[in-house]
Amino acid sequence: MRQAILVIGLLSLFGAAARADEVELAPSTLVSIRQAGYLLQGANLGDLKRAVDSRTTEVKPFKANAEAILAWSKVIPALFPKGTDKDTKALPAVWSDRAGFEKAAAGLSAAAETLVKAADANDPAAFATAFKATADACGGCHRPYRAK
Ligand code: HEC
Repeated sequence: MRQAILVIGLLSLFGAAARADEVELAPSTLVSIRQAGYLLQGANLGDLKRAVDSRTTEVKPFKANAEAILAWSKVIPALFPKGTDKDTKALPAVWSDRAGFEKAAAGLSAAAETLVKAADANDPAAFATAFKATADACGGCHRPYRAK
């Protein structure tokens, strides 16, 4: 009985190790993935800005852009594990001031959530206000945590 438990224990241990291996990424790959994701967010923000600048009254079609920014904001911290500080524009403060970095990501989530709601309600005034808060949240993280 005890041996069976030991065998099962060892098997699950190897199983876990195998699964961890399957998702292992080279740090340089992770840096490339997050940079590509950020480029998409830049494109999203550009679409949103054009919507605001054009003073369109139809903001509902931009809900998908806002949702993409919201989803992205939630995974930002996971894309900056320790060991991904080479060949990157991320500043050392991302790791030395982790709480502040995560707060900045959460700030983007809050702003993007408001933006999603404004788009869903097709409310151009609320949309413009939330767009500004969202763009401010991007810049608010870049200043302390991203190299120029
Ligand atoms: C919590 C912090 C944080 C927030 C919020 C944030 N960024 Fe960034 N951003 C970074 C960091 C750090 C980098 C550098 C990543 C790297 O080089 O590894 C970066 C890089 C970028 C890049 C450059 C990508 C490249 O390599 O060419 C763009 C574009 C960008 N962000 C756009 C945005 C936009 C748009 C938003 C808001 C919707 C945003 N970011 C919100 C931290 C943040």
